[in-house]
Amino acid sequence: MRGAKAALLTLMIASALSGCSDHGDPLEVEGPPGGQDPVSFASDVQPIFDAQCLGCHGAGGNAGLDLRSGLSYANLVGVAANNSAGDLVVAGDGLASVLLQRLTGNPGGFMPPAGPLPESNQEIVADWIAEGALDN
Ligand code: HEC
Repeated sequence: MRGAKAALLTLMIASALSGCSDHGDPLEVEGPPGGQDPVSFASDVQPIFDAQCLGCHGAGGNAGLDLRSGLSYANLVGVAANNSAGDLVVAGDGLASVLLQRLTGNPGGFMPPAGPLPESNQEIVADWIAEGALDN
């Protein structure tokens, strides 16, 4: 009888503990793509430039735009565009940002010229600007 009680207690404690650890810390839950996690310029935005833009926007890039890692942020945020009116990136205002205008093709035509980036990539840049275009 004692043994059975002790075994039952052990079982209850074990399941209570595992129930606890199953839930985890809600702050550590990874958000869905395009969800609540803030966009990181270095790890979310720059890789898009690296893969899609550097062929034409590296050293001495087209339209004077150098998007290489370590240089791109300073060349974009609060910097006047060469081929359009306005700044390339206006922190917090995607509609006013020439960078986002060009990614969505309007006005000025698509960047890259061969056709639009996947929408998920456009959204990363849009979210990054909306969140204040941080150097994060
Ligand atoms: C095949 C070459 C090529 C690729 C790839 C390319 N661009 Fe361009 N880009 C150009 C050329 C040429 C211009 C200048 C003519 C124009 O404004 O359309 C330009 C202009 C721009 C401008 C306007 C700059 C200004 O000061 O007015 C932006 C912004 C831009 N590109 C962003 C990008 C981004 C971001 C990517 C990658 C997603 C990209 N481009 C990929 C060739 C390219």
